[in-house]
This record gives sequence, structure tokens and C-alpha cells, in this order.
Amino acid sequence: MIRSRTPNCQRVPSPGTSRWHVVSFLPGESGIAPTFKYDTCYQTYVQTTSAFHGVRCIDCEELFDPETATHRCPDCGGILDPAYDYDAIDLTPETLESRPFDSMWRYEELLPFPKDAAVTLDEGATALVECPTLADEMGVDRVLLKDEGRNPTGTFKDRGQAAAMTAAVQHGATDIALASAGNAGQAAAAYAARAGLDAHVFLPQRAGFTQKAQTEVHGATLDVAHPIDGDSQIGNAGDAYAEAMENNPDWYSNKTFVTPYRHEGKKTMALEILEQCDWEVPDGVVYPTGGGVGLIGMHKAAQECVDLGWTDELMPMYAAQSSGCAPVVDAYERGADRHEPWEQIETVCGGIAIPDPGASPWILDALRESDGGAVATSDEEILDSAIEIARKEGLEVGATCAAAVSGALKLAEEGEFDSDDTVVILNTGAGNKDIDVLRSHLGDTNTTSPER
Ligand SMILES: Cc1ncc(COP(=O)(O)O)c(C=O)c1O
Ligand SMILES: [Zn+2]
Repeated sequence: MIRSRTPNCQRVPSPGTSRWHVVSFLPGESGIAPTFKYDTCYQTYVQTTSAFHGVRCIDCEELFDPETATHRCPDCGGILDPAYDYDAIDLTPETLESRPFDSMWRYEELLPFPKDAAVTLDEGATALVECPTLADEMGVDRVLLKDEGRNPTGTFKDRGQAAAMTAAVQHGATDIALASAGNAGQAAAAYAARAGLDAHVFLPQRAGFTQKAQTEVHGATLDVAHPIDGDSQIGNAGDAYAEAMENNPDWYSNKTFVTPYRHEGKKTMALEILEQCDWEVPDGVVYPTGGGVGLIGMHKAAQECVDLGWTDELMPMYAAQSSGCAPVVDAYERGADRHEPWEQIETVCGGIAIPDPGASPWILDALRESDGGAVATSDEEILDSAIEIARKEGLEVGATCAAAVSGALKLAEEGEFDSDDTVVILNTGAGNKDIDVLRSHLGDTNTTSPER
């Protein structure tokens, strides 16, 4: 049952607007008709898809009305997850085949908001590129790279921000805010510009130059958090964001797992991968994991495809991290249900430098339920693999993203895959986001170019 926070209210569409008129009624005593009172304020009319029937708390499992429960669980503060009536989903692989492969909104029946209402820059619909040299090296049949670098701002973060920004508009926000390692901040700035909202982006000093610059190019207010004791971490940006949110209660949060919609947008990566594989489930999907938003979203989509009868099994999900910050791998290997926060982190892979990923129980469930795993490799191995794939396959992967490449190589080396397996690697972002890190890894000796 959907619980409304305003039990004595009914909403009536307000003619000629996209808003609801709120009608409150005072229940009459027995035998006396209730009296109706038109409220002077209007609530925003949230336009949703037909099967989307609420947001469910992953902790207390209560289902809430998405119009009023906009962020965390009103009862226990847990993460809210969009929920659907799958019997009401009117979509099949055949219908999808007849649609152009043009953006993530072609899966609108499995998203909370319809394509017509979306704040979109045509994100998604990215290529799944064959990597024959890598497949040979790993001793598997096929390696496919899901190239999220081809998104509007160069990362998969665009999918999450498209969904979250749509929610922000639907909920009548004027200002959005978030703390981010960098790429989500840049994406939020772009989508806020598209929606005509003001964005307030909090980044740690260690965030890349591209991400900081483009955040400002899109017109967002950028706040770069000072490192504490010389140590720049995402938590510094999180603290600055939390303080600003307290001082600006009207700001709408687009932060990871504060809004229920970022993992929901990112789940479309899995829908695309499965469709691009003709609904043949790959034997492993390796994902560079920080907060786990994309991994959780993809696992959810894989489950939805099983429930809808489009596939017959889950995709084994593998979390890849840097050994300089690997709380998820550590918890997975210990058989723990949640991570231990890391005090000290040492990695150049900013996107996965997340020492305290709050959703780790959900990530660990996904890894175990899907019969996947977790793998950590050193920064040296990660950057080597970014250079290797650029040279051997011509593909540009970001530094953070290359954790999935080196992780896949290590898993193969450990015998995790069979010779007839298909392995998908998520390149969550474009190589040119991290050119400084990649270029400096080349060093002076490792070059074949005479002019350098
Ligand atoms: C390029 C890139 N890959 C991966 C991640 C980790 O994302 P998630 O929170 O989904 O684990 C990030 C997060 O900032 C990122 O920027
Ligand atoms: Zn709850």
C-alpha cells in the first residue's frame, strides 16, 4: 500500500497546468457529508510511468508515494528504491527491437518517469565494443567493453543525473546540490543547465581539472573542499555539502543514494548490455566500484529482466577496486555483510576513492546473489592496463575505469573464467577525463615517439 503523508488530502489536476490542486477535506461526522476546502497552494504534479508505483525503503521495506517521499525513507532514513508493478509493464524485447537505439529513455516503461518528461541530453545507447586482443590475453571467447565514455559529459554519471534531474524538476526544485568525486558533479552541472536549475557542486580538491572546469563552464557554483591534514577525500566535500544543505533547506539533493533515482538511471547500462548481447547473459560483468551505484542499478535491472522472462539468469557482477582503497573487496573476502571504513586511502583513481561506501551491504548482496565476486589491483596495474588497452585495442578508458580492465585480467589469471566465456568490462568514463594521470604514467622511458 502507498502511504500518503497527507491523508486528508486529495489532488485534482489543475486545468491548463502541469500541477495538482490540493483539495483537503474534513471528514464529516456520520450522516454528514465531508466538507471540502481548496488549498491555496499548489503541489507539483509528478508525471510518472504507469507501472512505477512507489519508492520502497531497502531497510524497513515500507512503500511510499514518490510525490512526497522525495529522498530518504521518511520513517527510518533508509535508501529508497523505485518499485514497479511488473505485471503492468507493457514492454517486450520485440518492441525494443523496433525502437531506435538512441538513448536510455527507450526503456521508459522500466523507469520512473516517461521520456516526454525527461531532462535529457540523449545519454545512454553507448557502444559495446569487441576487444579480441584482450579476449586472447584473458583466454576467453569474447571481451566486450561497454563504452560509457561516449555519454554527453563523458561518463555513465549522465544516466544517473538525467533520472535524478528529472525527479528534481518534477518535484518543483529550483536549486540542486550534491557532493561528488568529480564526474557526477560535472554531469549534474550539465543537466541542471539543461533543466534551467541552479546547481551547487561540492568536490574534493583531488577532483580532476576537467571535472572542476566543466562544472563551472556549465554555470554551476563550484565549492572545492579544503583537504584536512593535507589529505583530500570525498568526505571533505561531503561535510561542506552537508553544512550548505543545512543552511539552504530549499535545496534539492541529487547526491548518491540520497535521491532514489541515480541507481535507477544507471540500471539502463545493464538493459543495454543484455539487449546488445541478444539477451544472452554474459558470464561476468566487471565494474569499477566506488559507492556501487552503477553496480546496484545494473544488478537490479538484471533481476528485472529475469522477472519479466527476458533472460533466465542474473549477470555475475564483479566489483573491481584499487588495492589502495578496497573496502568492498575486503568485506567480500572476509565474508562480511558490510565494509569497514578505510582511514587511509592511496589511489590516483578518484572515482573509486570511496573509503566509506554507505551502500556496501547492498553491493555485497548483489555480488553474492549474482554469483560474481570482487577483485583489487594496484594503481600500477590499473594504469598499465589503461595504456595497454589504448595501445592494443585503440580504446580510451579513464584511470578509474581501468580498474575494471586490470581487475578482469586478474580474475582471468586466477581462473575465474572459462575459454567459452563472454566477459563485459564497464568503461565508466572517457580516457580524456584523466589525461594528466595517464600521460604521467607513461614516464620518460616507456615511449616509442621520437619527439618526446
Ligand atoms: C569514472 C567513474 N567510474 C566509477 C565510479 C564509481 O561509481 P559507483 O558509485 O557507481 O561505484 C565513479 C564515481 O565517481 C566514476 O567517476
Ligand atoms: Zn525505512
